Amino acid sequence: MTRSEQLLDQLTEGLDRGEVPAGIFGDQEIYDRELRSIFGRCWVFLAHESEIEAKGDYVLRKIGEDNFIVVRDEQGEIHVLFDACRHRGVQVCRSDSGNTSHFRCPYHGWTYNTKGDLVGAPLWRNAFGGMPKEGNGLAKAARVRSYHGLIFATLDPSAPELEDYLGGMAWYLDLLFGLNEHGIEIVGAPQRFVIDANWKSGSDNFAGDDYHLGTLHRSVWEIGAFPVPFRENMMGYHIQASPGHSLSFSMAPTEDEPGPKFFGFPEDLAATFDTARISEHQLDIARRSRVMVANVFPNFSILALPMTEDGTNHPPTGVMTIRTWQPHGVGQVEIWNWFCVYKNMTPEQKDRAYRAGLGTFSMGGAFEMDDTEPWITVGRTGRSVAAELLDFQLNYQMGMPGVGIAKEVPDWPGPGIAYWTRYEEGVQRNLYRFYAEMMRVEQGAWPRLTFE
Ligand code: FES
Ligand code: FE
Repeated sequence: MTRSEQLLDQLTEGLDRGEVPAGIFGDQEIYDRELRSIFGRCWVFLAHESEIEAKGDYVLRKIGEDNFIVVRDEQGEIHVLFDACRHRGVQVCRSDSGNTSHFRCPYHGWTYNTKGDLVGAPLWRNAFGGMPKEGNGLAKAARVRSYHGLIFATLDPSAPELEDYLGGMAWYLDLLFGLNEHGIEIVGAPQRFVIDANWKSGSDNFAGDDYHLGTLHRSVWEIGAFPVPFRENMMGYHIQASPGHSLSFSMAPTEDEPGPKFFGFPEDLAATFDTARISEHQLDIARRSRVMVANVFPNFSILALPMTEDGTNHPPTGVMTIRTWQPHGVGQVEIWNWFCVYKNMTPEQKDRAYRAGLGTFSMGGAFEMDDTEPWITVGRTGRSVAAELLDFQLNYQMGMPGVGIAKEVPDWPGPGIAYWTRYEEGVQRNLYRFYAEMMRVEQGAWPRLTFE
């Protein structure tokens, strides 16, 4: 049996006991398999529509380790094109973003339009005579869909529809991104930084690791950058929205509780939130929520919370970040971090949200710097000889029957399985259970996408 098979066996069996083998964070064979079985098949987040608003706008993004051009064509339609020339496979697009009518390969000059069609090449008649250009365009992702302007693509033609893939998670995306008719947009360019950690550590953390806040982020409370005391912030819900997708809310027990509402968004913005697109339950959850943190399997994370830039500018404001944990080899992850705002916020409110975000959840931000260092050591443990020889299993038992105070909430109004109090790690077990299934299911088949 190969090492990756052994690790996946241990993971599948261990999850029922709350155990995860450390080796999955460091094994090369596991990683190679993830690129095919996870990133080669799942719906992967690439960009927000507001990043490519005009015809000809494009950004260069990744699925797994591979480059894709996300571009809006002359008709306004969005395409996700494999950034490899049909002639010799040379990378065609050399800029992170821009606006263009054509992509021209630097090697021999084959030229593609924004739909990816081959439209010209130097000395075509001499070189290729009557050879048709059709069928020689850039390859495309199997399917592309947007949800609240979030553009996802999959390389697997057998993938379920995006909304079926998101399952219960769609309901929670609606209650964050669909609060008014304007919706969200991205401010600034995405920040990118590479750390020597495994990509799963980011997904694992944003699936609902609230327990680390009081220890790792103590300084954030000490300077007053986050307004909800640690113990109070642990009150809320952990939700397995659907297989693979998990999230967590820090929530006031009642509506009249003092403290931030609607993730700390400005009050005049909150006055535009209504139930035209979402239910009373969704609006109520958003109103009572201080924090929402979520991970859409595999590597797309979302966070909304009240923050100040530096702990001195009160009251805090709502900050929304979306991010991907981009695999970059088994021992590296490139973190892509975008800040979002509601489109109908004033320029001052957008600016404040952006600055508060940069001060906290960015490469130099108070929260981000704390998080990255421990993840580096998780990767080191995962790669270690000792973890292999000692058969080292990590403890993911919090919130299992008889472990801690978390209890399942039978009358939770939303989809999925909910627990009250955030002292709970079922959200992460949900991530790894689906992960293990995706790693093993045959090409063309899919694991169950609902709990029933
Ligand atoms: Fe692109 Fe030859 S490799 S034109
Ligand atoms: Fe953190």
